[in-house]
Amino acid sequence: MLGVLLRGAAARAAAADGVVISDTTSDAAVWGLRYPQYFRDWRGAMLSRPSATGDERRAELDPRLARMWAGYGFPEEQVPHGGHAQSLGATDSAGVAPPAACLSCHGSVYPALLRAGEGDLMRGADSLQTLPYDQLREQVHHPVGCLDCHEPASMRLRVTRPAFIEGLRREHARLGMRGYDANRDASPQEMRSYVCAQCHAEYFLTGPGERVTLPWSRGLLADSILAVYDSTGHTDWVHPASQAPVLKAQHPTYELFTQGAHARAGVTCTDCHMPQRRVRGREVTDHRTQDPLADVDLTCRPCHDGSSKALQDRAAQVQGRTLALRTLALDALLSLIGDLESARAIDSNGITLRPARDYQRRAQFLLDFVESDRSAGFHAPQESARLLATSINFSRLGQTVLRGDGRPPFVDGQPGKPRRKAEVKGGSGLKRASTWPDVVGER
Ligand code: HEC
Ligand code: HEC
Ligand code: HEC
Ligand code: HEC
Ligand code: HEC
Repeated sequence: MLGVLLRGAAARAAAADGVVISDTTSDAAVWGLRYPQYFRDWRGAMLSRPSATGDERRAELDPRLARMWAGYGFPEEQVPHGGHAQSLGATDSAGVAPPAACLSCHGSVYPALLRAGEGDLMRGADSLQTLPYDQLREQVHHPVGCLDCHEPASMRLRVTRPAFIEGLRREHARLGMRGYDANRDASPQEMRSYVCAQCHAEYFLTGPGERVTLPWSRGLLADSILAVYDSTGHTDWVHPASQAPVLKAQHPTYELFTQGAHARAGVTCTDCHMPQRRVRGREVTDHRTQDPLADVDLTCRPCHDGSSKALQDRAAQVQGRTLALRTLALDALLSLIGDLESARAIDSNGITLRPARDYQRRAQFLLDFVESDRSAGFHAPQESARLLATSINFSRLGQTVLRGDGRPPFVDGQPGKPRRKAEVKGGSGLKRASTWPDVVGER
């Protein structure tokens, strides 16, 4: 591939240009001395976009999202964010001091991890994440940059995030392959998604050090992730209107993407978000990492025929259908929350409250999973529809339970047993203490 040729040329140039890029060079500007075009694209990425496109902005645009996320605590003022070159803005401006773990995806932490672990990334992660944010921030000077995706001498893609390396190893072990090491065992094509997946994935913080953990021990489906949270008793916050113990889906983009036709056909994140682009007669991988719909000729055309209008329309159709279902799911969820609020007012100890709250937790997580993927269904249209339909069912079942004429809340006529408190070991080991049947079942 052209990338390989370019990397060969780059390696030769490296000897001559006098620029020193080592495994601790987290400043993209230094890399930019050798690769000016890439640096310009990386730095310019999304600077021109509106300053807030995240959850806060969406909540502002759609009051139903604000109701779903009520009590989660978004920062008061707008968080300046957008692309990788601005990734430290989001955590630096978080209202209360955030955990140091936030820096593992928002900053170029790789050199700090290596230093703290004396060359061992996993040990580095264990020791650094117990620090207060500000103390780790003193060692992390730069946002997500070249070093996070590239091995400097060869420019090969590599993954650097302990939680992802561990999560992927666990996922492969589950499928019967032990000791998987992405940097050794993944194909170059797989790496074109893995470099993104290391941050664009669902996560939670575990143990006293609040270590970043990917909830993948049962697989990548939203239902499997929900089952992991249920089995560990993990809850992000209590919804103020209903008192339901609810979850915030973070950005399960990789997980949802793996369920779609593009992933199945071997298409990678890089193909659409960093397509090949011609710059002064040379093909380069586009480091603006942009919204693929901003230029469908660049992104979709290499693989699909049709006019730009036809390609835009195909994407719009997928997104329009997803958004219509999401409207139904949000309306159903809000009805359940409203009913829970009324039921509490009548009898705050009613026996139907607990199962109805559990339905809210499930309905809300599946809906948020699709919402927080951020592609409005495009990454995996059919799976997104399945999740939204299941979410609608859970909300309506919750309402039925509250009316006292529903089926018992869980499978086989057995009401759910009380949830055990979180039993989470420090570090990576999730304690499987499942008291919950998987009500969603197989796909
Ligand atoms: C596993 C990696 C990871 C961790 C850990 C992480 N983030 Fe993020 N964060 C991301 C990614 C990726 C995005 C961009 C998501 C998108 O736009 O789809 C993001 C976006 C954000 C945003 C912008 C809101 C939005 O949806 O665009 C805020 C604010 C934020 N993160 C705060 C935090 C805080 C505070 C922490 C620590 C509690 C944290 N993050 C931990 C990966 C992470
Ligand atoms: C989010 C991950 C990511 C970051 C950050 C990143 N790159 Fe890349 N880079 C890629 C991917 C993906 C490719 C395509 C590699 C492939 O297909 O094997 C690539 C390819 C390259 C190539 C090979 C030539 C080409 O056009 O394919 C160069 C040189 C390069 N990047 C330089 C940089 C520089 C300099 C920076 C920092 C300013 C940087 N990259 C930041 C992901 C990244
Ligand atoms: C080291 C962590 C990390 C890696 C690796 C990474 N990202 Fe990101 N990405 C982030 C964070 C954090 C943000 C959010 C920045 C902000 O909102 O301040 C983000 C933002 C983005 C956005 C903009 C989202 C928005 O809200 O507009 C896109 C698109 C994106 N990343 C795609 C990719 C792709 C494609 C790859 C792989 C080639 C990748 N990222 C690799 C952490 C990462
Ligand atoms: C087949 C093309 C395609 C592939 C492959 C793909 N995406 Fe996307 N992605 C899209 C489209 C289209 C959107 C929706 C953009 C919009 O609505 O404006 C999107 C949206 C996003 C967003 C939100 C961006 C924004 O500007 O708000 C992020 C982040 C993202 N994708 C990351 C990823 C990651 C990570 C992967 C791999 C796990 C991936 N994408 C794979 C096409 C793709
Ligand atoms: C690297 C090649 C590649 C790129 C880039 C790509 N696609 Fe695809 N696309 C495919 C393949 C392969 C399939 C699967 C065909 C199958 O399974 O029958 C597919 C399937 C689809 C489908 C039907 C399945 C689904 O997920 O809905 C749509 C719609 C689609 N692509 C639109 C787009 C759009 C819009 C873009 C640009 C944002 C794009 N594709 C970018 C290769 C690509």
